[in-house]
Amino acid sequence: MIASSTLSKLKSIVGQDNFFDSPEYKLVYSYDGTPLLSQLPVAIVRPQLKEQISSIVQLANNERFAIVPRGSGSGLSGGSIPTEDSIVLLTNHWNKILEVDQRNLAAWVEPGVITAQLQAEVESLGLFYPPDPGSAAISTLGGNVAENAGGLRGLKYGVTKNYILGMEVVLPNGDVVLLGGKSVKDVAGYNLKDFLIGSEGTLGIYTKILLKLIPKPEDSSTMLVFFDRLTDAAESVSDIIASRITPAVLEFLDNTTIRCVEDYAHLKLPTAIEALLLIEVDGHPLVIKEDVDKIAVLCKKHHALEIKIAHDTEEAAKLRSARKVAFSALARVRPTTILEDVTVPRSEIVSMLDKIQFIAKKHSLQFGNFGHAGDGNLHPTCLTDERDISEIHQAEKAFDEIFTEAVLLGGAITGEHGVGLAKRQFLEKLTPSPAIEMMRQIKKVLDPNAVLNPGKIFSLKPHCEGPMPKNPEQIKKYLDAGAFT
Ligand code: LAC
Ligand code: ZN
Repeated sequence: MIASSTLSKLKSIVGQDNFFDSPEYKLVYSYDGTPLLSQLPVAIVRPQLKEQISSIVQLANNERFAIVPRGSGSGLSGGSIPTEDSIVLLTNHWNKILEVDQRNLAAWVEPGVITAQLQAEVESLGLFYPPDPGSAAISTLGGNVAENAGGLRGLKYGVTKNYILGMEVVLPNGDVVLLGGKSVKDVAGYNLKDFLIGSEGTLGIYTKILLKLIPKPEDSSTMLVFFDRLTDAAESVSDIIASRITPAVLEFLDNTTIRCVEDYAHLKLPTAIEALLLIEVDGHPLVIKEDVDKIAVLCKKHHALEIKIAHDTEEAAKLRSARKVAFSALARVRPTTILEDVTVPRSEIVSMLDKIQFIAKKHSLQFGNFGHAGDGNLHPTCLTDERDISEIHQAEKAFDEIFTEAVLLGGAITGEHGVGLAKRQFLEKLTPSPAIEMMRQIKKVLDPNAVLNPGKIFSLKPHCEGPMPKNPEQIKKYLDAGAFT
């Protein structure tokens, strides 16, 4: 319960026009991009100034309610789903690019800037912001930093954390602090900004972010390669990496995904093949040519059926769309799409895909698989229907087995979507308990009243460990049992 006097104080901090508690608003902000999870917030606030955020955080400490920061709500691990007795704090209206500093190759942005808008802006100046999450057209940079988002260019360029020079952040006690800066090197003390990256809204609310930019690659070449057998595609990936070529993009789609994409986007993809690879190399035109030739030889060695190379940017965009629409295409098949995110060492991709197929069959589930083959980040995607409780139960078991297998193969339960609510039981099950305990201690020290996004990543009290149920009624019981306290 948040007292009505507390809500009045919140209203007076942000002003009547930036406070919302109608049933419609609560419903809209009760969920994000994650399936099966939702909870109504008590209210939604849209602060205009960092001082207001600071006052809200202080009020939360004094009157004990939780704050759930939210950008576009495109996250896939439930990071922005309201918790018990919480308010949602919007940041997506903070959407200005404040400065592009071409002398220092850096940009100050507000957290609500859309990723693709920043990319386009800096590219128009001959600069490049490489992180390229699948949701770039709608995700905010604040959300990307909070989740340490990855994307299609992770193989060559790394992920969000590799492009954050600094930030201004409101801490859980309401203090506003500037971390990092434009100097390239800085080892003065603990690496606090890196600590805040990927903290999933549990340790601070960013009010400004300082991004690192690099020169835009001179040119790029995009290719699609078709394979009869998945193992041939995987061996081509392995050989490309082993031959010291680092494509910017090295993605794969399996047969189910290819068929869904073709059905949706009509790209004239062969639908009987087991796999396709989308490969993009960038850099100096001469190097690109050399790399494309070498890649073609390697793929042919592994029985590639056809290699399509784009001749212009339009054709490149078309080839790229075969991968870009994968999620939307799979989502059309059944009412509920559970898109997951596991990583394995690249040498284990085939074993992991075999295991996913075996597990899907065992539980009579329909799965599509696609992902970032070049960096070992796979998106096993279960096509299901949340109204079918027994099928959802099977899906839950299947993902439990998939995460366990990924960890056994030396991988992780998430490569880029974060843990949030959706995967905290798996983090707790598959991470050494001293590591979880260290995370709990850090949270406790920095946020003793658990006001920032409590219960995300890990439950705050060890007694609340245990699988998070997926059935709405059971979720309610679980929450009532104090899972977020
Ligand atoms: C992608 C998102 C789902 O790779 O991570 O498209
Ligand atoms: Zn992805």
